[in-house]
Amino acid sequence: MKVLVIGGGGREHAIIKKIKENPAVEAIYALPGNAGMADDCTLVPIGATDIPAIVDFAVQTGIDYAVVAPDDPLVLGCVDALEAKGVACFGPRANAAIIEGSKVFSKNLMKQYGIPTAKYEVFSDAAAALAYLETAPLPTVIKADGLALGKGVIIAQTKAEATDAVKSIMEDKKFGKSGDSIVIEEFLEGPEISVLAFTDGETVKPMVSSMDHKRALDGDRGLNTGGMGTVAPNPYYTEDVADRCMKEIFLPTVAAMNNEGRTFKGCLYFGLMLTKDGPKVIEYNCRFGDPETQVVLPLLESDLLTIMQSVTNGTLKDAEVRFSDRHAACVIMASNGYPQAYEKGLPLDIPDSVKPHVFVAGAAMKDGRLVTNGGRVLGVTATADTLRDALNSAYAMVQTIHFDNAFYRHDIGQRALQAKEA
Ligand code: AMP
Ligand code: GLY
Repeated sequence: MKVLVIGGGGREHAIIKKIKENPAVEAIYALPGNAGMADDCTLVPIGATDIPAIVDFAVQTGIDYAVVAPDDPLVLGCVDALEAKGVACFGPRANAAIIEGSKVFSKNLMKQYGIPTAKYEVFSDAAAALAYLETAPLPTVIKADGLALGKGVIIAQTKAEATDAVKSIMEDKKFGKSGDSIVIEEFLEGPEISVLAFTDGETVKPMVSSMDHKRALDGDRGLNTGGMGTVAPNPYYTEDVADRCMKEIFLPTVAAMNNEGRTFKGCLYFGLMLTKDGPKVIEYNCRFGDPETQVVLPLLESDLLTIMQSVTNGTLKDAEVRFSDRHAACVIMASNGYPQAYEKGLPLDIPDSVKPHVFVAGAAMKDGRLVTNGGRVLGVTATADTLRDALNSAYAMVQTIHFDNAFYRHDIGQRALQAKEA
C-alpha cells in the first residue's frame, strides 16, 4: 500500500511512524513533511493547502490511502477533493470540518443539542460587541469565528483588554475574514483534558486522554503556544468523568452532526474543561491534536492504519482500539523566542539512539546538514510504567539533543503528578 500523510509537523511524524508499523505499507509520503522525518518517509514538496496539486500527486502516484492531518486542508475540502478522484481518506469532509472551522457553528450546535459548554453570545457587528462588553462579566473570553493559527482566543482580564481584542479582530481584521464574526463567552475554570476520539459517524472510540501545556514558560506563564508538552493519560480523566463525557458530550456531538447532515468521520478532538458543574466543551478540533498525538499514539497497541481504514469504511464498531496502560510524556524543544520571533537555520543534532522517540516539527536541510526551521523544532516522547519515569526518561533524552538557543519547559507533567498524588 502507498500511504500519503498531509501535513508537516510533529503530529504528522508521529502518525507516520505509527502507520509504518503496518507490514502492508510499502511506501509512505509526507506532504510537505519536513527534513527531520526524511528517514521515515518520502517528502513531497507541495503545500498542505494546495489542494489541486495534492490531488494530482495522489492520482499520479497511485496513493491507496491518504491521511489529512491539519485543520486548514480539512476545512478547505481536501478530503472531498481526494475522494472525488477515488482516493480513500482519513479525515472529515469540509461540511463536518466546520466543527473546528467555525466557532459560531460549533457553539450553536452545542446550544441546540444541549451539549455542555460555556454560555456565549455571537456578534457580527463590532459596535454591538463593544456595547455588550460594557456590562459583560470579567474575565471574558473572545474568540474569532474562523481558523486563526491557534491565536484566535483572547482571555481578557479587563474591559480595556476585551475592547482591544474586539477592535483588533473585527475592525483591524487581525485574522482576516476569520474575524467577521466573534463569540464572546463565559470564562470557565478547572483542569483541562484533551480527548481524541476515532469516529465513523456511528461508533465513537476515544483514545487515551492527555494533558497539553499551552503556555510558553514554566508555571503556566508566558504566551499561549501551539503546545509545549503533553502527558497521557490525564489523571483528571477518571472513569466517572469518562462515562459522563461519553453520555453528555461525545455521543451527542456525533449524533448532532449526523442530524445536521454533516456526518463526521475521522479524529474528533474534544478540548474539555472539568468545571465544578461537570465536564464542558472548550473547543472541538476536526483532527488529531499537536502535541497530544505524540503521547497518544505511542500508547496505541492496535494497528493505526487498520483503525483509520475502519473509520473510512464505517466499520469502527468491529475494530480493535486498544491502548497500553503505561504513561507517556512529550517535551517540546522550541527555538528561543517562540511563539514570537525566533532564529532559523541553526544546526540540529539528534543522536541515532534517541531518534525513535523524536518527532520532528520544524527542520530543513542546509548544505547537507539538518538545521532548525520552526518555532517548535521537535518533541521527545518517552513511555514508562509510571508518569514520573516517563518524564525522567523524556528529559534525559532532551539533554542529548542539541541546537543553539533551544528552550523547553522544565515542568511538563508536574501538575499531573500533583493531581495523582493529591
Ligand atoms: P484554543 O486556542 O482554542 O486552543 O484555546 C486556548 C485556550 O484558551 C484553551 O486551551 C483554554 O485554556 C482557554 N479557553 C478557551 N475558552 C475558555 C473559556 N471559556 N474559559 C476559560 N478558558 C478558556
Ligand atoms: N494541542 C492543541 C491542539 O492541537 O489544538
